[in-house]
Amino acid sequence: MVKTEILSIETPAEFDEAVERACALLRRGQLVALPTETVYGLAANALSIEAVKLIFSVKGRPPQNPIITHVCDAEMARACASQWPDVAARLAATFWPGPLTLVLPKSQNIPAVVTAGGPTVGIRMPRNTCFLEIIRRCGFPLAAPSANPANRLSPTTARHVFDYFQDVIPLVVDGGESEVGIESTVVDLSAKPWSILRPGMIHEPALAAVLGPLQPGPARPSGAIKSPGRMPRHYSPRARLRIWPRDRDGEWLKVNTQPPSEKVAVICHNRLPPSGVASRNSMLPREAQAFARSIYAELHATDAAGIGLVWVEEPPDSPEWRAILDRLRRAAS
Ligand code: TXA
Ligand code: MG
Repeated sequence: MVKTEILSIETPAEFDEAVERACALLRRGQLVALPTETVYGLAANALSIEAVKLIFSVKGRPPQNPIITHVCDAEMARACASQWPDVAARLAATFWPGPLTLVLPKSQNIPAVVTAGGPTVGIRMPRNTCFLEIIRRCGFPLAAPSANPANRLSPTTARHVFDYFQDVIPLVVDGGESEVGIESTVVDLSAKPWSILRPGMIHEPALAAVLGPLQPGPARPSGAIKSPGRMPRHYSPRARLRIWPRDRDGEWLKVNTQPPSEKVAVICHNRLPPSGVASRNSMLPREAQAFARSIYAELHATDAAGIGLVWVEEPPDSPEWRAILDRLRRAAS
């Protein structure tokens, strides 16, 4: 058991101290939780088999689920991949640093444990300055899944990470609330046509503007898990989550007409929450990016309040909301 420290990076001196401490731990093969603009990551030296194995054991992650490799520049990205096609260069130039992961054929540098034995590697250059500085200073890429136990909700604050891994990992760097709030878009460039393995806030029209329109891909063999993050029942709070359909406006007030056998929460962004029926009512922003930034923290708070059932008002069916809807549907499945 270790004592878990949380280090803030608000002042330049704190920033330097946190970077120094994180690098020292990472060089020794240890795990460090770091802020990214999407969600907090549980980072290890991607070139160390033992360090990456530690990620799998601490998270309870199934060994067939590959981990994203984080880089600090395009040169390091190219060293992780055996091919760097023009489409990768264009996406990197447009969206990096940022919430986009590119799946490409892996290079020999990347140990098989990172890619779950597969031939491809997910590569991302995050936008957080502290994370980037740590990679630069270490000189090696960092393997980092979201810093939560397998199948639990991703953390968007240092406190969320601490609550999951207190006394398990030595250090959480506190970069405040994650700016994007949900996990990166994962794009497969290892096969043609390109495809989205996991939607994120960089949405399909934004990718299509760079890559050309998304083609309907060949049907994948059933049962093949191209990206385990696409499995249903992922990204879930403890509470059962239900989506309140937009087309059932009239029934809105009937959410909880029976005497409640459990605590109910309602999360809205457009309609007003029905009064008096839920023990927790929340009104999140109506705009997709602002909603994405706050939804996980809201679900963490819902769990902390001991809620058994959470109703979430269905978001609009538009590209800006698609990744949010994806996460809510998975949590509801
Ligand atoms: O925003 C993010 O992507 C965050 C931050 C920390 O960077 N990371 C994250 O990692 O969400 P994780 O492990 O929780 O989710 C990574 C997703 C999983 O669905 C995984 O299966 C998929 O990316 N993935 C990673 N490498 C892949 C590969 N080579 N081929 C297909 N899918 C891959
Ligand atoms: Mg995850």
